[in-house]
Amino acid sequence: MAIRSQVVGCGSYLPLRVMSNDELARTVDTSDEWIRKRTGIRERHLAADDEATSDLGLKAAQAALEQAGLAPDDLDLIVCATATPDETFPATATRIQAGLGMTRGAAFDVQAVCSGFIYALAVADNFIRCGQAKSVLVIGAETFSRILDWEDRGTCVLFGDGAGAVLLCAGEGRGEAADRGVLSTHVYSDGRHHDALYVDGGPSTTRTTGVVHMEGREVYRHAVVRMAEAIDAALEANDLTPGDIDWLVPHQANLRIIESMGHRLNLPRDRVVVTVDRHANTSAASIPLALCEAVSDGRIRQGDLVLMEAMGGGFTWGSALVRW
Ligand code: UT7
Repeated sequence: MAIRSQVVGCGSYLPLRVMSNDELARTVDTSDEWIRKRTGIRERHLAADDEATSDLGLKAAQAALEQAGLAPDDLDLIVCATATPDETFPATATRIQAGLGMTRGAAFDVQAVCSGFIYALAVADNFIRCGQAKSVLVIGAETFSRILDWEDRGTCVLFGDGAGAVLLCAGEGRGEAADRGVLSTHVYSDGRHHDALYVDGGPSTTRTTGVVHMEGREVYRHAVVRMAEAIDAALEANDLTPGDIDWLVPHQANLRIIESMGHRLNLPRDRVVVTVDRHANTSAASIPLALCEAVSDGRIRQGDLVLMEAMGGGFTWGSALVRW
C-alpha cells in the first residue's frame, strides 16, 4: 500500500475591506476599464491596519480544522507559504501555531512568492509520504498591500490580501491515479529572472522592506510557457491526458493567463476556477482561496481530479495534481 496525502478540510479568510477599481482610480492614474480589460480584476480585499498575515492565516487555519473536525494538537506540522511574513523571524507559521493553541509538532514558512502554495503542498506531501508527519496544515497567507507602491499603477492595481488553508492527512491507497490524495507535485525555479519581479529591500540589504517591482510583459511571457510545461509534467508523471482533468485551479494573477491555460487543456470555461475578478492576485493565498471557494459551493467533489499551477517571482513555478 502507498501512503497518500489526502485532503480532509479547507478554509479561507478574506479581510472585510473591499477596494474597487474605481476607488483606486481616484488616487492613481488608471481606470476600471483598463484594469478589467488587461487583468480581469474588478476589486480586491485589503487587510485592516491591525491585521497581520498571521491573523489572516489563523482564520483560514481554524476554518480548515473545523471542516475536518480536528483539533490543533492533532496536527504534526504547519507549513505556511508567504512572501509577506509578520516579521523577519520567527516564522509566521509559528505565530499561527500559537494562535491555534497548538503545543506540539512543528511549524515553518516557505517562500516562493506566488508559487508558494504549490511549494508548501510539495513539502507537506513529502513529509507525509516519507512517514515523518501524518497531518499537515498547508497555508497560503499574504498581505501584499503592505509591500505595494501605491503610486505605481503598474503594480498596485494587481494585488490583494487573503489566506487559504488545506489540511492533509496520511491515507492509504494502491498508489494509483484513481486513489484520493496528492498524486504529484512539480516545483521549479530559475534565479536568473530576479529583476523581472522582486521587492527592493530586505534585512541583509536595505534593512527595511521595499516595494514590489515587476516587468509585467516579461513575467507574462514566461508565465504562459512555464506553467504549460509544469502542467505537461503533471499529466505525464501520472499517465493522464487533459481530458482526465475535472478542474483547473490556477494561480490567480491575470484572467488572460488563466484562460489561455484552460484553453490549452481544452477545458470548458466553467471547469476553470476563477477568483481573480474579486480577489486580484493574492500571491501564495490565491490557489487555496480559489480551491476553498469551489469546494464550499459544491463544484469540486470527492473523486474529482484537480490540477493546480502557479508562477511567481524568482522565477518560481510549479504544478500539483490532486484527486479530491
Ligand atoms: O503573480 C506573479 C505572476 N504575475 C503575473 O503573471 C503578471 C503577468 N503580467 C500581466 O498580467 C500583465 O503584463 C499586466 C497586467 C501586469 C500588464 O498588462 P500588459 O497588457 O502587459 O500591459 P503593459 O505593461 O504592456 O502596459 C501597456 C500600457 C502601458 O502604456 P504605453 O507604454 O503603452 O503607453 C502602461 O504604461 O498600459 C499602461 N499601464 C496602465 N494604464 C492604466 C500600465 N498599468 C496601467 C494601469 N492603468 N494600471
